[in-house]
Amino acid sequence: MSGLLGAFDPQSPGARATFDLGILATIIFTLIFVAVGGTIVYSLVRFRWREGEPDPKQIAGHKTIELVWTAIPLAIVVFLFVFTARTMSTVDPAPPARPDLLVIGHQFWWEARYTGSGAVVANEIHLPLGKPFSVRLESADVVHEFWVAGVSRKIQAIPGRPNYLWLEPTRPGTYTGVCTEFCGVQHTWMRFRVVAEDAATFAAWEQAQLQPATLPADPVAAQGLTLFRAMSCVNCHAIKGISDLRAGVGPDLTHLASRGILGSGVVDNTPENLRLWLEDPQQVKPGVLMPNYHFTPEQLTRLMSYFNTLR
Ligand code: CUA
Repeated sequence: MSGLLGAFDPQSPGARATFDLGILATIIFTLIFVAVGGTIVYSLVRFRWREGEPDPKQIAGHKTIELVWTAIPLAIVVFLFVFTARTMSTVDPAPPARPDLLVIGHQFWWEARYTGSGAVVANEIHLPLGKPFSVRLESADVVHEFWVAGVSRKIQAIPGRPNYLWLEPTRPGTYTGVCTEFCGVQHTWMRFRVVAEDAATFAAWEQAQLQPATLPADPVAAQGLTLFRAMSCVNCHAIKGISDLRAGVGPDLTHLASRGILGSGVVDNTPENLRLWLEDPQQVKPGVLMPNYHFTPEQLTRLMSYFNTLR
């Protein structure tokens, strides 16, 4: 995954408004700095003590000057307040009664549930362009923070206290999301992808996510499924059509093979990386809550064969 975050490349109305406010504030603060710094430098030079010269005229208590230097900062603060309030209303409109998406932070990954269709995904959120998506943000364990640089505001995922935000990317593409509040050893690897695409592509993707997994025809893959059931994987991971238990401890694996990343972005989802992961998750992502099952090479081959059917 790209390490670069597009905070300076706003791609949503909210991010654009925040960015513009930041630029406006920077310009104003620069002007203040130049005016104050310039006055100090000018005074130091112009009124430097010189042998034999009288003290310059003292102006302490000058009414006009005091009024002016009270009025100017007040006007700046009021001006910034108005622009900030306007930005806040753009970034954070009231959430609807039923949000489009429920996002749950976990140590150390993100679960997303589409409330309309019922699709459940992990670490990869697709969005249709042109439709603002309202998100209800929760946490299953500790405090996390959700941020899609250039698209969303940063907001905390707090256990028992939902927060709301809007996702409205205006340009198609894949954006990188991160957790921005320290939440444990793998805080850094709580990355996710936000894929913005046209409405038809999104609808097709969402339909595909709703499809349950089918029983594998290949005998090796079928042995993999037997192993998956026997090794208590089902206690943490749901696979729609196989184990519909809402485990919610680890990511839903129904469409594992169609995802681009593993371990919340720690590695790309390639057969080699998946094998390394199953061999010893701790080696790929130290501190991840998935234990090492000490699978034999033969068992790994069966599991890999099965996971490959989860498209
Ligand atoms: Cu989750 Cu940091």
